[in-house]
Amino acid sequence: MKRIKRTENFEVTLVVKEDNFINPPKAAQRNAVVNRALKEFSAELNALNEQTKNFVPGETVVGLSERGQAQLTAQEIMEDWQIPLMKAMAKAIAEDGGDILEVGFGRGISADMIQEHPIDSHTIIECNDLVIEQHFKPWKSKYTAKNIRLVHSLWQDCIDDLGLFDGIFFHTYPLNEDEYMQYVNASITFAEHFFHHAAKHLKPGGSFTYFSNEIASLSREHQHMLLKYFSSFSVHIIPLDMPTDVKDTWWADSMVIIKAVK
Ligand SMILES: C[S@@+](CC[C@H](N)C(=O)[O-])C[C@H]1O[C@@H](n2cnc3c(N)ncnc32)[C@H](O)[C@@H]1O
Repeated sequence: MKRIKRTENFEVTLVVKEDNFINPPKAAQRNAVVNRALKEFSAELNALNEQTKNFVPGETVVGLSERGQAQLTAQEIMEDWQIPLMKAMAKAIAEDGGDILEVGFGRGISADMIQEHPIDSHTIIECNDLVIEQHFKPWKSKYTAKNIRLVHSLWQDCIDDLGLFDGIFFHTYPLNEDEYMQYVNASITFAEHFFHHAAKHLKPGGSFTYFSNEIASLSREHQHMLLKYFSSFSVHIIPLDMPTDVKDTWWADSMVIIKAVK
């Protein structure tokens, strides 16, 4: 089976090599679903054509050095352009209060934003000793009366002992080349490797948030993956003010955040 989709700007050719691949009872059904998939792919190419017009030049090479215990500057931990994402993510999981788990403390910017909501408790998992000394400890001293628990560990080593939460905020980064290859290169979204842990540690109706490196929608692959673990999700497009010399490998003037509900 061969299909060609031609537009003014591009041509997509699909060759299905295996007769039993997408093989419903009727040929017309096969045509309908394959044509729909090609149409969607073409629409995505047209969307990318528009979105890439606004890209900043930025960085295109990823630094893969070991950083589990690295001494990092504030901007190396998280660049300021990500702050609007933190605000939207904090609101997504904390606005209704309850017990909140935050994975990855970093500079504590999202932690401040979570504390602005009427939450009952705030559990924070952080693995980097220097982040805890230089960022968590001064931050914690602002909130002496609050119910805050630090778990100094990799999340992989402690999450099973932490119980259930109303909201989970996930914002880590790959700690080395292996994690980069596994969680970024081989995955539809970095947070995917955390999905089943999030689902397992949420109370019924609880919500999980993360950002995805997608510009203005969620890919179908990403949606399939989310719906394996969560009953529903919402997507918010957050406009970003990108520096032209951004060090992270992100260049678009928006990014999506996801709120997935168990
Ligand atoms: C990008 S920063 C978080 C920024 C934070 N949201 C803020 O607003 O400042 C990511 C943090 O996750 C921590 N981290 C990365 N991998 C981790 C892991 N597997 N377990 C625990 N912490 C991790 C890093 O040490 C770093 O402090």
